[in-house]
Amino acid sequence: MTSDLATDTHRAFAFAQDQVRRLITKHPDYFPLFTTAGRWHHHGAAWTNWCEGFLCGMLWTFAKRTGDPWWRERAEHYSRLIEERKHDRDVHDLGFLFWSSWKRWYDLTGDQAVNAVVIQAGETLGLRFNQKGKYLRSFIAPNSTFIDIMMNTGIIFYAAQQTGNAELLRVANEHCYTSWRYLVRGDGSTAHEGIFDIESGMFLRQTTHQGWRNDSSWARGQAWALYGFGTAFAFTGDQRFLETAQRCADFYIQRTPMHGVPPNDWEDPSPMLPYESSAAAITASGLLQLAELTPDRGDRAQQYSEYAQRIVSTLCTPEFLADQTPGWEGIFKHGIYHERNGLGVDESVMWGEYYFVEALDKLLNYQG
Ligand code: GLY
Repeated sequence: MTSDLATDTHRAFAFAQDQVRRLITKHPDYFPLFTTAGRWHHHGAAWTNWCEGFLCGMLWTFAKRTGDPWWRERAEHYSRLIEERKHDRDVHDLGFLFWSSWKRWYDLTGDQAVNAVVIQAGETLGLRFNQKGKYLRSFIAPNSTFIDIMMNTGIIFYAAQQTGNAELLRVANEHCYTSWRYLVRGDGSTAHEGIFDIESGMFLRQTTHQGWRNDSSWARGQAWALYGFGTAFAFTGDQRFLETAQRCADFYIQRTPMHGVPPNDWEDPSPMLPYESSAAAITASGLLQLAELTPDRGDRAQQYSEYAQRIVSTLCTPEFLADQTPGWEGIFKHGIYHERNGLGVDESVMWGEYYFVEALDKLLNYQG
């Protein structure tokens, strides 16, 4: 890593702590999704309820790295506020909620009562499995699955391994195979949503909610795929999942400008905005994982690691990092939640903040 990037990483990690400290002091017990004109947004539509774990996750990351008891106390407090979501049957996001929060808590403490919450969340998520279509259904409808769910499947693998539950392991594996078969295309791009015939389980078509078109390539979905298939490989050792993660990563790298930040959808001929920066943050962290997972850590692993560093370097420039944008309450700018619905467009978004902090934390580990 260059000394410039090492400096940027320290600076951005310190700034992230400043922004999150301000958020939880100014708005206690509040879990935002995105900003509006740079201020954490309090009211209005959320589309779905999936982000609470990300704030907790940043608190745990700060607690672990700094050893500061204030972060630790806040992390535990915020995590307890979401505990009941371990039984939430309405969302497909229990990995986002609990892997980023309670799993970090368990990793830090080894407390089995904390682990039991993580396992419960994985078991609850597994209940979304459609036996005929062999997929975990999205929050939208029983006949729908999302590429985003790949990023949540890790907690099901984990729960299955922890409990020795073979059926749960089958559910996680089958969902990954279904996503691999129907949502990942020959060129390594991904579809956002798959629609199935609910009676027969037959796959019908690819569609999208947050991308440009049903046959186009939504950047954040691509990021969830490259990270999620990497995680599936880490749990199973199944080479098909590793190859899929790599193909998704290669598509991202091939289609994105040198700075590493994609538009909301690569196929959109006239994007409303040049950047969807949260996809870049997720990809940076996902590529650092993929570099570790890639056998023999050769040239390909090196390429993934260097590309991740390039993204982080870009996100630390004043165009993205908000440390030189007075009054901006998020950590970095130019994320997009749901362009079509006009939600969180060109803003800071909570999952972007979390995966950026995660990527910074991984790079700080490299520095020892
Ligand atoms: N619902 C997950 C996402 O917007 O990426």
